[in-house]
Amino acid sequence: MAMVKEKKLSAETISAQALHQIDEMTGGITPAIHPSSTFLRDENYQLINARHSYGRDENPGYAVAENVLAELEGASAALLFSSGMAAAMAVVQSLRPGDHIVAPRVMYWGLRNWMSKFCDTWGLGLDLFDSADPVALANTIRKGKTRLVWIETPCNPTWDVIDIAAAAESAHAAGACLAVDSTVATPVLTQPIKHGADIVIHSASKYLNGHCDIIAGALVTAREDELWERVCEVRTQAGAILGSFEAWLLQRGMRTLFLRVRKACESALAFAQHFDGHANVGAVIYPGLPGHPGHEIARRQMDGGFGGMLCIQVKGGAEAALNVVKRCKVFTRATSLGGVESLIEHRYTIEGEGSPVPRDWLRLSIGIEFVDDLIADFEQALG
Ligand SMILES: Cc1ncc(COP(=O)(O)O)c(C=O)c1O
Repeated sequence: MAMVKEKKLSAETISAQALHQIDEMTGGITPAIHPSSTFLRDENYQLINARHSYGRDENPGYAVAENVLAELEGASAALLFSSGMAAAMAVVQSLRPGDHIVAPRVMYWGLRNWMSKFCDTWGLGLDLFDSADPVALANTIRKGKTRLVWIETPCNPTWDVIDIAAAAESAHAAGACLAVDSTVATPVLTQPIKHGADIVIHSASKYLNGHCDIIAGALVTAREDELWERVCEVRTQAGAILGSFEAWLLQRGMRTLFLRVRKACESALAFAQHFDGHANVGAVIYPGLPGHPGHEIARRQMDGGFGGMLCIQVKGGAEAALNVVKRCKVFTRATSLGGVESLIEHRYTIEGEGSPVPRDWLRLSIGIEFVDDLIADFEQALG
């Protein structure tokens, strides 16, 4: 009988069915939650299941989300963490004193600030580059010294789009590895490993979970090499592990990832186009608009949309911008991104003194509501 080659399932199917991982014990089509912090040994003191000894090493409930994420990213393995910050720091903590890191000046501010402090105390070198300048990254790398090139694309909050393949080429030529924070793009729009990245980071608190009800992080790797072994060790030994219920919520959230991200992209584009050129708007900062500096790279690198995040520069300065926030009724005034409901925030207030974000910018996370409601709300708020 002729062998029928099994057709590889699409990413949407993999995501919706969570790889069709059925609970072995019960046949449940959703996984069980495993709150146990410790695991039985038999009378000969052998573990009942060799993988499970203590809850800080590994939780049986992690595998569903980790397997799905690894598959969606085209990765060799994935690891869940207690937050996006913990995931990112596990990569940085896996370096050795004297190693050098290159990172963009514009990126998630919490991580940039923490990296600067951490590198200082741990004897790591750190140089920041201008992500809007296409040659700055390559010029900041120090051959033989730089061990980690860190990028975020699209990056917070300018949504500059960094060419992952070019960054990977520069990093690898210098003997460094490339880590990509792909929180905003998600595997729906970009799979950094296909473009040459070695490690991908997600704040799973955002789109992967999608409901603003957990704090979680994830890393995926192109290969299970020495760096990855150290990353695994950092999670186990330093203990930045995810709770069992949060891991369960994450696998549930990821089942609707494609629907949510596609809807957010569609609405963000319609929203951006509507307010581009509006009398009370100085600029709409969105990579889906042809005038955005990252548009051409985004068209090549992002598949099926430009993301759900954008910024609006309000004419009239900081006060006018804060007045718009005050008048919004449909947008929710809160920090964060990637949830089903649309959020509006004044980034400068969140980041505080020294923030590079202009005071007349508002950051919007477009959710899955009816886009006309969002447009009407922002229109009335602009006055
Ligand atoms: C792009 C990006 N990376 C990382 C993080 C940190 O993630 P978490 O808040 O889950 O620790 C955030 C949080 O806002 C983020 O926006």
